[in-house]
Parts: sequence; C-alpha cells; structure tokens
Amino acid sequence: MKVLEVKNYEEMSSIAANMIIELVKSKPDAKLGLATGGTPIVLYKELIQDYRKNGTSYEQVCTYNLDEYVGMDPEDSNSYRYFMEKNLFAHINVPESHIHIPDGTAEDLKAECERYEDELIRGGGIDIQILGIGSNGHIGFNEPGTSFSSHTHIVKLAETTRKANARFFHSLEEVPTEAITMGIASILKANQILLLASGINKSEVMRRLLTTDEVDEQLPASALKKHPNVTILADDNALSLVR
Ligand code: F6R
Repeated sequence: MKVLEVKNYEEMSSIAANMIIELVKSKPDAKLGLATGGTPIVLYKELIQDYRKNGTSYEQVCTYNLDEYVGMDPEDSNSYRYFMEKNLFAHINVPESHIHIPDGTAEDLKAECERYEDELIRGGGIDIQILGIGSNGHIGFNEPGTSFSSHTHIVKLAETTRKANARFFHSLEEVPTEAITMGIASILKANQILLLASGINKSEVMRRLLTTDEVDEQLPASALKKHPNVTILADDNALSLVR
C-alpha cells in the first residue's frame, strides 16, 4: 500500500480527481468503481468542473457503485442512486445504460446480489476503485467480521455506521438497517484501488490500519494489504495518529 499524505480535503479531492481524469483520457472506456458518502463529494465536483471546462468524455465509461441501502427506492433522496445522480451523473455525459448500482428494492435480494456480481464480472473488471473508509474500518458496507472471500451480499449495518450516516437523514430511525454491498473479494478484483481518508474522525482507524502489518477480518480495510496496487490518499488530520 502506498500512502500519500496531503494537506487537506481539497488537495485529496483534486489529486484523486486528476487520477480519474488521466485514466479516462488514456482509456476512454474505463470502468470506474465509485463510492458515496461525504468523502468523494468534492472529487465528483472536480470531475464535473473538468468535464465542463475540458470536455473529458464519459460516453464510453462504465460505472459500478459499491453499495445501496435495502428498501430504498432509487428516486428517494437518501438512496445512493439518487446521491450519484445529484453529485455526478446528471452533470457529465455518462450514458444511463452504463451506470451500475445494486437495486435495494429488488424482491429477491439474494438474486439481486448474484445479478450485480455477474454484472461486475461481465464488465471485465474495474480499472480504478474509489473507496472511503468507515471509522470502524469498513470498506463498501463490509462491516467488521465480514469474510475476506465475500462477494456482493446483504449486510446488517453496524450501529456506528447508521449513526455516522444519520447526518444525511432527518433522524436515526430513518436510516436503513441493511444494505447490499460489493464484498471484500469483489473489491479486491479491481486493478487499482484508491482509498480516501480525510478528517480527524478517520485518525483512529488510519492508526489501526497503518501502524501494523496485521490483516484481520475485524478491520475490513486491512484486506487491502493483500492487493498489489493500492494508494491511500489521506490528509494531515486523518494521519495525525500515524506519525
Ligand atoms: C459509501 C461506502 C462507505 C463510505 C464510508 C465513509 O459508498 O461504501 O464505505 O465510504 O462509510 O463514509 P464518509 O465518506 O461519509 O465518511
């Protein structure tokens, strides 16, 4: 794992955006693995600005999102489908048919997980996977204890995750209790992985991740140590307990 320390959230977002823009320029049909949450918002803003200014085209790009809440209609403003539309897809020229996000309203959720995993495989593999990290070490919604050999599956969200995400809802009660997420093994299939961490509330998990060589299912992000091409872009605050 390569760790790049940056000053702040803005610098992290702009370096990450440039990595994606360069990839899309050199490989116009790149497969992008995308995340939601607070971390990638400015990264997506930078992609939009670049699209407007420089016309980087996403016409041949395919996107694959990590996760979606169970029971959440894509039109619901708290769904990850809606989040992606609002923060990125509506503002660039990626065709609707190239966008892949698990369907949290599928009647047969298990079949939906299999369908999504199949879609990932049929896409030929993700070129770059963007990840945030939960303060409990989750990547995607793979909570502590998730098997490193997991593929797309249904998870029960940890209470800490529901509380952290309650900021996007009116109340904690509204936060779904389950989600569909790409598994750890699905994530590790990506050619390159870029994990972003910003802010003091990520400092403890970064300490756990970066100060030992330990690979432990209780710290899902530690699975990344088994991957040959991982970059961690983290700011001063997130790395404040590592030095
Ligand atoms: C989001 C996702 C999660 C978030 C993580 C950090 O699609 O899979 O793993 O990346 O919960 O969330 P933020 O960025 O809000 O701190």
